[in-house]
Amino acid sequence: MAAECVAMSSPHDHNRIAWDARVRARGRFTQPARDEDFRNPLAAVDAAGWLGPSIAGQRLLCLASGGGRQSALYAAAGAQVTVVDISAEMLALDRQVAAERGLDVRAVEASMDSLSALATGSFDIVIQPVSTCYVPNVLDVYRQVARILISGGLYVSQHKQPVSLQTSAEPSARGYEIVEPYYHRGPLPSVVGSSHREGGTLEFLHRWEELLGGMCRAGFSIEDVIEPMHADEQAEIGSFGHRSRYVAPYIRIKARRTGERPKGPAVKVWIPQ
Ligand SMILES: C[S@@+](CC[C@H](N)C(=O)[O-])C[C@H]1O[C@@H](n2cnc3c(N)ncnc32)[C@H](O)[C@@H]1O
Repeated sequence: MAAECVAMSSPHDHNRIAWDARVRARGRFTQPARDEDFRNPLAAVDAAGWLGPSIAGQRLLCLASGGGRQSALYAAAGAQVTVVDISAEMLALDRQVAAERGLDVRAVEASMDSLSALATGSFDIVIQPVSTCYVPNVLDVYRQVARILISGGLYVSQHKQPVSLQTSAEPSARGYEIVEPYYHRGPLPSVVGSSHREGGTLEFLHRWEELLGGMCRAGFSIEDVIEPMHADEQAEIGSFGHRSRYVAPYIRIKARRTGERPKGPAVKVWIPQ
């Protein structure tokens, strides 16, 4: 009966339930900020220095960032922080950490592709950790972010690389293999025991023309891109560090909201149904 209910729910409902459960199980990405992170909170969350020397007074949205890490550290660095997440349990951690540390954090339960609770042009900076994989259409997220950012505002986001979502969790005798098509439709098959995927969630593969082209078409200009380094020469075969030697798991994008109105694609883009 429970399995039938899950199969019939939307990806959003499914992922809300899955992330609530991950919090209760103290899973990966549900750990609040540690004491040592508060020594230099901005450096702890902005190693690349993309946000400059100070974010004091900036209106900053932590999008799909519940868990009591990002919201608390950006607030400790002086920003006026709002955190949005679909998981009430993740947001409970944000509220708990903010209360413990005397920080002012506004927590909003919403989906990243439906931000009507947030006013147009009400943020200077939007930060989004890896999370666009949980919605079917990344363009809907970008359009929402473009709406709530001021012109000239910064959007820093991290995403799973498509090839990482295509590649097997474990190596065969031939190494890691591409097992999913690039033009995958619908949620990816579930995996067990992968450190590149979150068990129990529904994840979607977004192609480069959606991740990068979609951002440009939503009204952003991309200023910088990095691939956070996770490759480890000493790592055990099959581990996160070992697989990352062959397939980079993530991309981090620094983009700026331009003054131009978002426009449609100049070329025909295949959108999964
Ligand atoms: C990998 S975690 C990122 C946050 C985490 N604190 C970290 O350490 O990076 C992904 C987050 O996306 C949230 N999420 C999943 N689907 C979402 C949606 N449709 N809208 C908003 N948040 C969503 C999850 O609840 C989870 O908090």
